[in-house]
Amino acid sequence: MTDSPLHQTVWILDFGSQYTQLIARRIREAKVYCEIRPCTDAAPAHIPPNVVGIILSGGPASVLGDDAPAFDVDWLQSGRPLLGICYGMQLITHTFGGTVERGVSREYGRSKVVLDASPGRLFDGAESEFTAWMSHGDHVDAPPPGFRVVARSDSGVVAAIASQDERMFGLQFHPEVTHSEGGDKLIQRFLGVCGATGDWSPARFAEEQVSALKERIGSDHVICGLSGGVDSSVVAALLHEAIGDQLHCIFVDNGLLREGEAESVEAEFVEYDLHVVDAKDLFLDALADVTDPETKRRIIGEKFIRVFEEQARKFPNARFLAQGTLYPDVIESVSVRGPSATIKSHHNVGGLPDDMAFELVEPLRELFKDEARAAGLALGLSEDRVFRQPFPGPGLAVRCLGDLSRERLATLRRADAIFREELYAAGWGRKVWQSFVVLLPVKSVGVMGDERTYEEVAVIRAVHSTDGMTADFVHLPYELLGKMSSRIINEVKGINRVAYDISSKPPSTIEWE
Ligand code: XMP
Repeated sequence: MTDSPLHQTVWILDFGSQYTQLIARRIREAKVYCEIRPCTDAAPAHIPPNVVGIILSGGPASVLGDDAPAFDVDWLQSGRPLLGICYGMQLITHTFGGTVERGVSREYGRSKVVLDASPGRLFDGAESEFTAWMSHGDHVDAPPPGFRVVARSDSGVVAAIASQDERMFGLQFHPEVTHSEGGDKLIQRFLGVCGATGDWSPARFAEEQVSALKERIGSDHVICGLSGGVDSSVVAALLHEAIGDQLHCIFVDNGLLREGEAESVEAEFVEYDLHVVDAKDLFLDALADVTDPETKRRIIGEKFIRVFEEQARKFPNARFLAQGTLYPDVIESVSVRGPSATIKSHHNVGGLPDDMAFELVEPLRELFKDEARAAGLALGLSEDRVFRQPFPGPGLAVRCLGDLSRERLATLRRADAIFREELYAAGWGRKVWQSFVVLLPVKSVGVMGDERTYEEVAVIRAVHSTDGMTADFVHLPYELLGKMSSRIINEVKGINRVAYDISSKPPSTIEWE
């Protein structure tokens, strides 16, 4: 993991809490750089001077149990301000000689927190009573010597402890979770204790990354697979700013893109050395008569590698391959499994032959998605690009159910374009996580004038989500749905029926295939 020597940094030791990334988000929102490290890391003999504070996250284990992850207690002697959240609080208590009482299970819920009359620096300016997202598992029975209880839940459970010198704190609740009132301010006050001044932002990151990339790449060349999605676009923008025409972008038109997609990439990246590869026939010929979703995906994946490889060979002097790896990809598998766990390598273009050994450039590997977006805006990318909805790699192939003929794809593309036009015009485009049209593999009977028709059925899908793992269908107004439906049926030859998908994930999925 790269430490940023330029910025004050908070280290978060991850004990496996589902909320650890949220802690990092809250700190970065306060313009302080932070990094998540596995709790099993050994404490370095010399912690770099730019590390201004340490946070111990929550976690599923019990400090009293056999399942407690290995931990180097030297972390607690680092001299840096320390904040233990939930498991972290119990670890501080247990290590420094207090007592922790075993809970039945690690459940969470809203609780009232009541502050002591003089709760000290961490709660300076906080309401004397507030609601917080509290763990009902193990809790502190007696704080360690040199610590005092500064808050309790309304049922009397110790909710916060502080050391007498006001440099070490423990919380039974999760300030990083939005259900905890004033949690962001509490984290900001801890950053104040650390002396963090707020010297980091995605825009400054972009500036510094441009100089770092210039230095690393020198006069070498870089290849970048540009899909037009947020991550690859921001990567390309950073590299273009850093090395100009030493960057070669490859955009593969696989015939499965939405209306206007290739054109918009060409327009936005017109000043780049952009190679638009027309591979429509290659993909669509290979997909003719294929209806099984997984076979479609496999064929598309294989063809993509082949095309990309062929193009990449046109730049024999390219030493680097750029990828849009983000911070969650980097930390995904680190957590409690410790340093021995292999970090998932996020190969957007995995599967390239061994004789094409590129060095990877992953300039976004320190950023969360919204920070990558902010960096993209700072680099001058359009809002449309930066706030684009996720679009699956196999493109319209997984939205055109059944036969992938050119004709059916054209029908779907037109219907999808009309749907999106209406959605954005009505102001819903940016409010939803994903929205699209699906073409079903069945026909239905209709009537047009005096004629009976037997044509395709289109389904509209619009979902709210925060990460794609769960999703709710969007309650689009009936008037808007009606307008979309009549425009699609009137304007798209071959569709005589439109339905609206009102299923959530789970048990359904976002895409239909
Ligand atoms: P599901 O349909 O599983 O989708 O609820 C969750 C998220 O993943 C996207 N998705 C894909 N992305 N290749 C991709 O690059 C795929 O094969 C694929 N399938 C689904 C989907 O659009 C949603 O954002």
